[in-house]
Amino acid sequence: MIKFIEESTEYLKQKGFNNPEVGIILGTGLGQLINEIDIEAEASYNHIPNFPTATVEFHKGKLIYGTLGGKKVVVMQGRFHVYEGYTFQDVTFPVRIMEKLGIKTLLVSNAAGAVNLDFKKGELMVIDDHINLQGGSPLAFKGVSKLGERFVDMSAPYNAEIISKFESIASEHNITLHKGVYASVVGPQLETRAEYRMLKILGADAVGMSTVPEIIVANHLKLKAAAVSVLTDECDPENLEPVDITDIIAMANKAEPDMITLFKELIKSI
Ligand code: HPA
Repeated sequence: MIKFIEESTEYLKQKGFNNPEVGIILGTGLGQLINEIDIEAEASYNHIPNFPTATVEFHKGKLIYGTLGGKKVVVMQGRFHVYEGYTFQDVTFPVRIMEKLGIKTLLVSNAAGAVNLDFKKGELMVIDDHINLQGGSPLAFKGVSKLGERFVDMSAPYNAEIISKFESIASEHNITLHKGVYASVVGPQLETRAEYRMLKILGADAVGMSTVPEIIVANHLKLKAAAVSVLTDECDPENLEPVDITDIIAMANKAEPDMITLFKELIKSI
């Protein structure tokens, strides 16, 4: 894996990805942040050596480098999911590349269902802890200790300083920002009523199909990590309505301006 990481990083450096400070992974319906970036370099996932093989729906995936909020950033436009058939190592390979390029902070966004019924769709939640229900780990492979410690501490996987900065930015800009626990499932099917009941009992406030593998690897690499969910549906097992993925994407798009404000202001402040 080390050789693969070096090859991919070298390719990107030659394309002009020079010393980014912050890495950003953009989730479902949150792509507009790109419009705020002064773009200096781009690389299609299909062209980056050793990147996971792109699927058809993924042909638009690319890595972008530029300036946002006065900082050099590298942004993943489109991420890989376990539900698409990628392995945990595939899903997290780009995090290892971004770290090798120089990032010290990783910011992640995603779309999630609200399990905590005090939270409403269209609102945002900063993640302060997670429950990994994906049935595997991106660190469970033979060479892992060559890249960092195997038994990674997870007592505080989300950076407390960044969380409190997000909270101050939200209050300054009149954005409702909850704080809570994100449970990650594989998907792609949504949850049954019984599964939503279970998630609530387990202590989850939100549920989604991403983020946790990337955050585990960010901790493996000792990056400062933080993540924000846009709550796209309310997961009330006693009144569950069929959800349509187009509704989920529409709700994510609606919350996008708030998410953009949070990310931009946060980056300015670090
Ligand atoms: N469950 C899982 N993933 C999701 C959901 C959900 O309800 N909403 C958005 N992503």
